[in-house]
Amino acid sequence: MGEHRYKRSIKILRGNMRLQTTEKNKLVKTGNKMKKQSKSIVESLPFKIKDIKLAKLGRDKIDISEKEMPGLMELRRKYSKSKPLKGFRLTGSLHMTIETAILIETLKDLGADVRWASCNIFSTQDEAAAAIAKTKTPVFAWKGETLEEYWDCTLQALTFKNDLGPNLIVDDGGDATLLIHKGYELENYFNKYGKLPKITTKVDEEVVIEKLLRKVHKKNSNHWHSIIPDIIGVSEETTTGVARLQQMVEDASLLFPAFNVNDAATKSKFDNLYGCRESLADGIKRSTEIMLAGKTVVVCGYGDVGKGSAQSMKSYGCKVIVTEIDPICALQAAMEGFEVRRLEDVLDRGNIFVTTTGNKDIITLKHMKKMKDQAIVCNIGHFDNEIQVDALNKSSAKRDQIKPQLDRYTFKNGKQIFLLAEGRLVNLGCATGHASFVMSTSFSNQVLAQVFLAKNKPKTGIYDLPRKLDEEVARIHLKHLDADLTKLTKKQADYIGVKINGPYKKDEYRY
Ligand code: NAD
Ligand code: ADE
Repeated sequence: MGEHRYKRSIKILRGNMRLQTTEKNKLVKTGNKMKKQSKSIVESLPFKIKDIKLAKLGRDKIDISEKEMPGLMELRRKYSKSKPLKGFRLTGSLHMTIETAILIETLKDLGADVRWASCNIFSTQDEAAAAIAKTKTPVFAWKGETLEEYWDCTLQALTFKNDLGPNLIVDDGGDATLLIHKGYELENYFNKYGKLPKITTKVDEEVVIEKLLRKVHKKNSNHWHSIIPDIIGVSEETTTGVARLQQMVEDASLLFPAFNVNDAATKSKFDNLYGCRESLADGIKRSTEIMLAGKTVVVCGYGDVGKGSAQSMKSYGCKVIVTEIDPICALQAAMEGFEVRRLEDVLDRGNIFVTTTGNKDIITLKHMKKMKDQAIVCNIGHFDNEIQVDALNKSSAKRDQIKPQLDRYTFKNGKQIFLLAEGRLVNLGCATGHASFVMSTSFSNQVLAQVFLAKNKPKTGIYDLPRKLDEEVARIHLKHLDADLTKLTKKQADYIGVKINGPYKKDEYRY
């Protein structure tokens, strides 16, 4: 501890949840010289992207897609004067696509000071990132990041001037939330034991996170504790991120309020379902150029994403087999006419295998070894651990990269399989994710959630969007599709016990 001389006074102002930190610059020995260590936990960069010259292409695509995102444009109009996010620092960790660029510009329009990173190493559209960087918004994302770069980008997005943290977070899958919580835990350990724990995990990505947190700790051993009082809350985009939050509530470790965007009806019943119904095929076809008609596709999981994926493949003329662990979802699949089987029983039948479960170890190395020659394996769930990619890479199978995000593995017996996007979400890794219109429904919920958090500053817990707002999001998008909604009469409304202007369903209703 000799050279680490700290003088810190921390004052937490409970009322307005602001925190002041004063810290003497650390002095670090480098060779013979005493060098002043940089104060910031990150390098000061305006942005980090692939190529700023792509900004014009990105802007043109943004201009086109804005017309397909009526929800976001309506919210810009609605809040143009009141600017409900003015004065708030907002971090985003969500696929840096054209649609996300329009979300970012909406959040900025509402007044937020935004920093952004992608939530997947392959999902950035470099032209979208360039267009955002061009507007002087700090964005840290490019297609094909390494895991180290990915987590550095997340840290950059979470670190505002003077090492301040965000007030608000838009998360997709929970990585920004995870980094904060893990950093906080590490500081607690250090404060208790006076040393840092050894890194014991063998999981590559966990090692990367642990190393990054130790780097931060070396620069400021109280960084995460110092930013938490400023965090008003996070809005979480996806099923897997919400599951992580729910686990944190269960083990009482959640440190700030969270808004469950995924379970808004106009998110999961549209994006997860209709979004994947189009973007799954887009990903498979762009990377493999395969004819889908007549192929046998095995869809693992029949939740919202599985339903969209199975429907999509069926619509192309594929024979679809579904695997499920939940009897209700399995019965739904069977009654839609899908064959419901166990994965191990159909390995020699499938031409294409898609995981959609949000669960781990769905397709194991053992499964892959037993697949038909030339089988295509991909995942559309949030994380790549649905497929045992690490085990495959460590196996004796020979890997050839045909092109980025398309790998061929040859097993010892000569059989080959193709793995798309290294097991990461195929629609964003091999294509550009969902189309703008459906992302407008998802992102309208994100904006409403951010406005809710900023306005209400709720207590720690998980919050849902009121049904009335969900209906509003649907109403805006209906207009765009030239649909005419029937209006209830007063008598009808009284008869079914609802108000003429909604909400029309009870909270428990499942669409
Ligand atoms: P969901 O909970 O509605 O569906 C998952 C289904 O998988 C459930 O029905 C569950 O019973 C089933 N399942 C779990 N373990 C299984 C196993 N071992 N074998 C077979 N089935 C199993 O979740 P969802 O909303 O459909 O989301 C699924 C995943 O997709 C999540 O990780 C989510 O975050 C992600 N997602 C991705 C995109 C995208 O654009 N790629 C979009 C939305 C959601
Ligand atoms: N998730 C799925 N598709 C997406 C897109 N186009 N942009 C951002 N997130 C997404």
